[in-house]
Formats: sequence, C-alpha cells, structure tokens
Amino acid sequence: MKRKIIAYNLVLTDALEQLDDSFEVEIFDGINPKTDHAFLHALKDAEGIVGLALPVDKELLEKAPKLKIVSNNSTGYNNLSIEEMTQRGVMGTNTPGVLEDTTADAIFGILLAAARRIPELDHFVKSGNWKQHLTTAQYAVDVHHKTLGIIGMGKIGSAIAKRAHFGFDMNILYYNRTRNIEAEGKYNATYCDLEPLLKQSDFVCLMTPLTSETENLMGEQEFKLMKKSAIFVNGSRGKTVDEEALIAALNQKEIHAAALDVYRSEPLSPDHPLLQFPNVVTTPHIGSSTFETELKMANLAVENLLSGLLGQRPKNLINPDVLNR
Ligand code: DGY
Repeated sequence: MKRKIIAYNLVLTDALEQLDDSFEVEIFDGINPKTDHAFLHALKDAEGIVGLALPVDKELLEKAPKLKIVSNNSTGYNNLSIEEMTQRGVMGTNTPGVLEDTTADAIFGILLAAARRIPELDHFVKSGNWKQHLTTAQYAVDVHHKTLGIIGMGKIGSAIAKRAHFGFDMNILYYNRTRNIEAEGKYNATYCDLEPLLKQSDFVCLMTPLTSETENLMGEQEFKLMKKSAIFVNGSRGKTVDEEALIAALNQKEIHAAALDVYRSEPLSPDHPLLQFPNVVTTPHIGSSTFETELKMANLAVENLLSGLLGQRPKNLINPDVLNR
C-alpha cells in the first residue's frame, strides 16, 4: 500500500514531483479542514502533511494517528501546536533561509508606499484627478535619514535593517528577546527597550514571530507611545496587533499611517474597518510571494517532508525533542 501524503494549500504542486511512486498525494485547496469530509477521511491514513497555515492542534492530531511529519511551507509556524506534536512523536518543519530577502523587499516596499503615499497617489492619477499641481495635503513624508524601530531582529528584521542602513541612511533601533550583535555591527542598529523604541521611531516595523509573548504586543498603550507623525508597519502575524487599538489610533490620529501585510483574520473581509483609511496600505500576506522564492519554499518544504518520512532528520526540524522519545 502506498504511503499517504496530504498537500494543503500548496500552490506550487510541482514540488511534489520529488516524491516517488511509493507515495500517494491528496491535494486540498481552499477547504475548511475542520469540516471537509474528504480531508478528514484522508487524515486517517496520512503519514505526512505539507502545506500552508493548516491549524495542527490536538483535535487534528487525534484524527491522524499515523502522522509522522507536518512540513510547513512558511517560515512562521504559529499554526502548529508544537508541544502537542512532540508528545505524539510528530515532527514539525518550516522553510527558513530562502525567503528573508524577498520578505524584506516586500515589507520595506509597503513602508515606502505608506510614507510616499504611492497607492493613494496612483489612484489619484488613474482616476483622472491629476489636473494641476499637488496640494500640500497630498505631500508625503521622507524615509531617508529617519529612525526605524524594528521589533523582532531575526533574519527578516536584519534584512530590513540592511536595506534601511545602506539604502536609506536610516538610524536603526531594535527590540528583541536577545541582542543581535551582528546587526549592531553591520547596520549600526541600537538595542533598546520597547518603550523608547516606540517613542523615538519614525517608522515602527513589527517583524516578531507570533508566540504567547508577542500576541497583542501592539495595543492601545503602545500606539499611544508612538509619535503622531510615525508610521506603523506589520510584517509579522496579525495577532501580534490589537486591531481595534490600531483602528482607534488611526481614527484619533495618534499615528500618521500604517502599512500592513498581515491581519488577525485572513483573507481580510472586504468590509473590514481598516480598509476605510486612505493612509493604510494593505497587501494580502505577500511577504514571500515571488515566483522565485515560492518555488524555493515549496521545494524545501517537500524536501523536509521526504526526509522525515524516510527516517532522516529534516533540515529544518522545529522540534528536535521528538527524536529523543
Ligand atoms: C512565512 O513564511 O511565515 C510567511 O509569512 C508566509 O506565511
């Protein structure tokens, strides 16, 4: 009998060609994993799952008694209940090391878009309203030589710091669980606490993973600490931000603008209040979504899956404790 694999929201399914005939793959896209009958049925025999943002919790694990590995096609793995998986001997993997530059480009891109009001002014031109010179109400704000506060100086945070330092002569502050000496040396980044970072930064860029410590990291108090002229950028996960508090801060003009790639609930509903603000730039969680990088990620995710299924240690194993059980 062939070994069953589930591919869940894996767009570039060509990557599955790495799997030989001893595997049978069932592909699921855009389904509700809690209720879809075919998916729930496939779980019973599945030894491996490869895909994007599947909530792997106790409930799912109970329905998948043969599961050996869940290979996330993303670097973030907040969708995996790692402790629960480790207890049951299920490996978890992710795809770091191939998407940092691409994601940093995108996040720096939305920062620039918000500061220079690019989407708003694009709409102004395309809607035929560019009939005379701009008014001061349409002027933007500079990015170069300003202060950028990065919350979460991991690999992507560092790649953003690199762009800010070498390309835009920005002054960089950062807040992280641990000091990032390399970023301090290379990009002249200064380590500081969250409060001074929020008070001093012209741009606050949130890049931290979502954990129990970072959930709602940006709330009412944090937005109040920011400069009224500051721009907030979120390239982490939606749940790191209290969206109600962000909306209130925008309404009360406690911050100047926001640039968001991630949301508490994705896809973002078309009537979401954040969409009413011309000074909020939105993109649909596209940090890593280029042809080149998505292909690298999908190949790496399938490579991790295959190693786990063949009894080898996957390159990007998140829960090595699973091997000591
Ligand atoms: C990641 O890799 O975590 C990206 O945000 C895509 O989910």
